[in-house]
Amino acid sequence: MRLDLTQISARHPAARTGAPPALRPLDLAIAEGEQVAIIGPSGAGKTTLLHLLACALPPAAGTLRVGGVEPWHLPRRELQKLRGRLFLAPQTPPLPPRQRAVTAVSAGRLPALGLWASLRSLAYPSDIPAAYEALDRFGLGDKLFERVDRLSGGERQRVGLARALLAPARLWLVDEPLSALDPTRARQAIGTLVGEARTRGTTLVATLHQVDMALAHFARVVGLRDGALAFDLPAREVTRERLERLYAQHEHELAGAPPAEEPASAAAAPAVMHCR
Ligand SMILES: Nc1ncnc2c1ncn2[C@@H]1O[C@H](COP(=O)(O)OP(=O)(O)O)[C@@H](O)[C@H]1O
Ligand SMILES: [Mg+2]
Repeated sequence: MRLDLTQISARHPAARTGAPPALRPLDLAIAEGEQVAIIGPSGAGKTTLLHLLACALPPAAGTLRVGGVEPWHLPRRELQKLRGRLFLAPQTPPLPPRQRAVTAVSAGRLPALGLWASLRSLAYPSDIPAAYEALDRFGLGDKLFERVDRLSGGERQRVGLARALLAPARLWLVDEPLSALDPTRARQAIGTLVGEARTRGTTLVATLHQVDMALAHFARVVGLRDGALAFDLPAREVTRERLERLYAQHEHELAGAPPAEEPASAAAAPAVMHCR
């Protein structure tokens, strides 16, 4: 799905009056089937940009086109249909506690199913082999029937990503997909995600905390700082100097080691469920 942003600006819904906009007027075009990484220090506007692309947040100004149409000019029903054709993986995946991994992953299919088939699939996941296959791609084949609130944060994050493989979406938007993963798992997960997107011709936009992963796995990297585009370049042209400028005063984020994946335990915090 192609994406076109023209002079787009955005404000966080909870921002106080007078606060600077989360995104200043920016232009960005992403072609159908392209894979793009968005990097930049905390507060740069990466999540806001993803929420705009997911049609979850209306722009404050400018023109947004998703798949050639202006989502906020569509009738409500058409807007819902468009949202069903894209996949947003929030940083904390919306996994209801007590749900089994197989059901959570199968939920990726819901937009493609009718109401009754959806309800039935929540009680009796119909395509268990497909759910297994998706989980296995993220190293979780053995967790098929595990309850998600018994998984570690990193495992839950990977369940959230495995959903993409079953989603009937032409656009994947993933927010910091590796934030809870150790370096080996992170490399595997981003390799799977980018590889699958490329094979399927699915557009992928991922915000990433790990700059090295962005440069290694994506052909195109966009740097965002203070709500503005700092650069939009082929990965091989992103020099150390550019990165140092992008992360000035946030050097620890550029140098920061990724977290070690927490061990699975029954005491793992319950997954928080977000509705949008
Ligand atoms: N919960 C919030 N309440 C008010 N303003 C917010 C909130 N979250 C984000 N913002 C504003 O939006 C800006 C961009 O935030 P965000 O898109 O989350 O950045 P990033 O994902 O790059 O860390 C922040 O600098 C802040 O000004
Ligand atoms: Mg963010």
